[in-house]
Amino acid sequence: MSSYPITSKDFNTPCYFYDMELLVRTLDAIKAETAEYDNYHVHYAIKANANPKVLSCIAAAGLGADCVSGGEIEAALRTGFPASEIVFAGVGKADWEIQLALEKGIGMFNVESIEELEVINEMARKLQKRARVSFRINPDVGAHTHEHITTGKAENKFGIDKEDMVKVIRMAETMPLIDFTGLHFHIGSQLLVMDDFEALCIRINELQDELDSEGIYAPNINVGGGLGIDYEQPDTHPVPNFKAYFDTFKQGLQLRQGQQVHFELGRAIVAQMGTLLTRVLYVKHGKQKQFVIVDAGFTDLIRPALYGALHAIQNYTAEKELPTLKSSDNSCSENSSKRATAVTYDVVGPICESSDVFAKDLSLPETRRGDLIAIRSAGAYGETMSSQYNCRPLPQAHTTDE
Ligand code: LLP
Repeated sequence: MSSYPITSKDFNTPCYFYDMELLVRTLDAIKAETAEYDNYHVHYAIKANANPKVLSCIAAAGLGADCVSGGEIEAALRTGFPASEIVFAGVGKADWEIQLALEKGIGMFNVESIEELEVINEMARKLQKRARVSFRINPDVGAHTHEHITTGKAENKFGIDKEDMVKVIRMAETMPLIDFTGLHFHIGSQLLVMDDFEALCIRINELQDELDSEGIYAPNINVGGGLGIDYEQPDTHPVPNFKAYFDTFKQGLQLRQGQQVHFELGRAIVAQMGTLLTRVLYVKHGKQKQFVIVDAGFTDLIRPALYGALHAIQNYTAEKELPTLKSSDNSCSENSSKRATAVTYDVVGPICESSDVFAKDLSLPETRRGDLIAIRSAGAYGETMSSQYNCRPLPQAHTTDE
């Protein structure tokens, strides 16, 4: 049973609920684990959760921002992330986004192609601004995760082929307003085996040897994000194993004198602090299956439909009634004793698509219309990926400190 701090507040569902205390605890853990390194810089990947309160809390903790659009750069600046701590990635940066980044003087562009470098160079010349540029190199390293969220293989659209690394750096050196600042990588998301990050370190070391032989120095090494979280047991592992993660890079990377290491963590910072709250509209007794039909759909949380992602699901209303059973004697009501019976349900949303399913064959306490259901670990890529399909309103968000 969850120790999640849901209060008696009457929420309009579906809505997100963010546990700010857990967010602070997670940020403290990152600070503690990086305290021994004065060359480690953690940038929060805004794409994971751009809720203004969440962003403020992360900015206040002193992290930088990892942005993938002009909108995210604006959100970062509005929140108070210093421009110099913003890194800007993305395979398809539009001209207005490049212009915004140049005018605001962001820390670094993570450039993904020669074509993009040429456009940045041209725009820097027009605006007479300097552009600090790192190259995103496709390391051709596999990652143990869903095929839709692996990014570091040669067949993915991301980054520059490693064979072209020296060529693009040499090209940048000829551009008077371009400052070459280093290398950037990102191999995928929801990675739980450190072997993937070890493989990345090995590849970075090889590439650095190649740079040495060319007499090129990369002041910054950005290893991207990707650290995963425990979706199955959010209460057992509310804070990811940051120690193992940072240790892997400490041991794996052969850094050159003065090199700065950058991380772009998203999910690991915000996933566990978020819950999608939804109410049961109907319990439908089908011929073969029992369906719990909730008021949230894939418009509110698309991860199960898009990636077959698993999120732990709890019936808070039933769980609240259940403790009376444990304490007793014979005094528990028939109502709550029925609750103690586990029933197997498919938990589904109201959207007119058969992929609108949160869980299949899930065992829950006997569930009723009006019950409050919690879909856990939804703080990352939940609210930010919501949509208005079926003309549904976007989900609202609440925080524990409201
Ligand atoms: N840096 C780059 C260049 C990225 O593309 C990403 C995520 C990150 C950092 C942050 O990765 P994280 O630490 O959160 O794993 N919507 C998917 C995840 C897509 C991740 C896209 N890139 C999901 O819901 O699982």
